[in-house]
Amino acid sequence: MKIAILLTALLSFNASANEHLAFTQQSQSAIKEFATSLKAELITAMKAGGPIEAITVCNQVAPKIAENLSQKYNMKIGRTSLKVRNNKNKADKWESEILTQFEYLKQSGDSINSLAFSEAISTDEGIEMRMMKAIPTGQVCLTCHGSNIAANVQARIHTLYPDDQATGFSVGDIRGAFTIHQAAQ
Ligand code: HEC
Repeated sequence: MKIAILLTALLSFNASANEHLAFTQQSQSAIKEFATSLKAELITAMKAGGPIEAITVCNQVAPKIAENLSQKYNMKIGRTSLKVRNNKNKADKWESEILTQFEYLKQSGDSINSLAFSEAISTDEGIEMRMMKAIPTGQVCLTCHGSNIAANVQARIHTLYPDDQATGFSVGDIRGAFTIHQAAQ
C-alpha cells in the first residue's frame, strides 16, 4: 500500500516536472515572439514618426501584442519592472522577489541576457507555473526611459502616465522583465 502511494506521488511529480519543462519551453517561445514583434514595431514607428509616434506603439500596440500572444499560448503574458510606467504592469510579490534577485545576480556579474527564472508552484488548486526573463536597457530605450528625455516626449508620457516611474535608466541596466503566468488548472 505504502509503495503504491509512493509510486503515485512519484508519477504525479514526474508529470508535473514534464509539464513544467513544457511550460518553460513554451514560455521561451512566447517571450521570443513578444520581444521580436515589439522591437520591430518600436523601430518602425521611431523611424516613421519619431518618439511621439512610438509612444503610441508602446501605449497601444504593446498591450495588444501581449493580449494576442496570451490567447495564442493560453498563458498570461506581460511585462513588469521594479519601476513601472503603467501601473497595470506593477510587479506582484513573486515578480518583485525575482526582479530583486535578477538585480543581485547582475551586480554579481551575470549578463542580463542570462537572467531567467521559471517555477512550478504547488497550490490548493493544483500546479501554478510562472516564468520571468530580464529585459536589458539598450540605447534606443533611453529616448523614453533615460535621464535626458526631450521635453515634448516627456510631456506626452506624463499626460498618458502621470505616475510614471520608468525614467532614469542607463544602458546596461535591467529595465524590467517579461513575465508569464499560467494559473493552476
Ligand atoms: C517611444 C518611447 C519608448 C521607447 C523608445 C521605449 N519605451 Fe518602454 N515604455 C514606453 C511606454 C509608453 C510604456 C508603457 C506601456 C504600457 O502602457 O503598457 C513602456 C513600458 C515599458 C515596459 C513595461 C513596464 C512599465 O514600465 O510599465 C518595459 C519593460 C519597457 N517599456 C522596456 C523598454 C525597453 C527595453 C526599451 C528599449 C528597447 C523601451 N522600453 C523603449 C515607452 C517607450
